[in-house]
Amino acid sequence: MFEYSHLFMLDPAKPALILAPMQGIIDAPMRALLSESGAFTFGVSEYIRVSVDPVPAKVFLRDVPELNTDSKTPNGMPVQVQLLGGEPNCVADAAKTACELGAQAIDLNFGCPAKTVNRREGGAILLKDPARIREIVKAVRESVPQPIPISVKLRLGWESVDEIHLNARMCVEAGASWLTIHARTKTQGYAPPAIWHKIAEVRREVKIPVVANGDIWTVDDFLRCRDVTGCDHFMIGRGALANPNLSVQIAKELGLPGREIDLNWLGLVNRLLQYGEMHGYRVTKGTVSHIKEWLRLASDRGMLTDFDEIKKATTIEELRYLLVR
Ligand SMILES: Cc1cc2nc3c(=O)[nH]c(=O)nc-3n(C[C@H](O)[C@H](O)[C@H](O)COP(=O)(O)O)c2cc1C
Repeated sequence: MFEYSHLFMLDPAKPALILAPMQGIIDAPMRALLSESGAFTFGVSEYIRVSVDPVPAKVFLRDVPELNTDSKTPNGMPVQVQLLGGEPNCVADAAKTACELGAQAIDLNFGCPAKTVNRREGGAILLKDPARIREIVKAVRESVPQPIPISVKLRLGWESVDEIHLNARMCVEAGASWLTIHARTKTQGYAPPAIWHKIAEVRREVKIPVVANGDIWTVDDFLRCRDVTGCDHFMIGRGALANPNLSVQIAKELGLPGREIDLNWLGLVNRLLQYGEMHGYRVTKGTVSHIKEWLRLASDRGMLTDFDEIKKATTIEELRYLLVR
């Protein structure tokens, strides 16, 4: 097992590489697998939706089973709990519950573009309401013990990339410990390019660490992103899935530890399933489609051949068979 010696708190003076939250794909088994490299400083859980009803403990423990093991994956990577909601008191109560269950850091999602969450006033829609963002961050900050960091994940804006300035200021005023900025607006969805230079502007404006995120697929992308943003802290999502060793290559540039893992896709899939079993996850049709979504990303980036065949698999057995060929 790789030793993680980092403090959970993002240290402004030290570089960091963070594993992005990705609903339905980077779940606990995937966090366990991707943390085998030891290259991530920490990871962020998929968002937990907060509506008016309190979030039961069992939901936290189901979605973030790492809470049972000192908030760490089986490979020792710390995991931060992410919440998504629009009612300050409800989000604050959920944050308190998460901390009572052992969460050591809370992240607030103001970037999710999904219609279902935006209709219910959560995620990116709040980018249109900076005062509400401040209220939510403040309520959460006040509800959990001071040593527990509260971070915020933002997009640049709903429609305009300039919305980020006020929203970032609101988060800082409300006591956020750091900001992660996915360098796109909600309207942009996931369409390239990520507008990294806006991250640079915010980094110069605020006195807390800013984590740069969006479209880091290769080491070259990372180097350009670092150049443009001037950041020391980075988050990667799809790039880490497409190439499970990208984290190690970036960690090396940042002077962080990490060791390459064997990119045998059958072996990776088998280990992912083992981690799932360890967490008591059932293998369903959904599991097969999530794995295929992952393999599609790898194939799009030239890390895996034969996806045209693999995408036809409907069961884990077929998937394994096609990966062996
Ligand atoms: C399928 C999918 C699910 C995502 N789920 C979340 C989520 O639960 N919480 C969140 O803050 N961001 C979520 N994101 C956004 C990512 O964390 C990240 O900001 C985005 O993918 C850009 O980074 P990347 O180019 O490194 O992937 C999701 C993105 C995708 C594609």
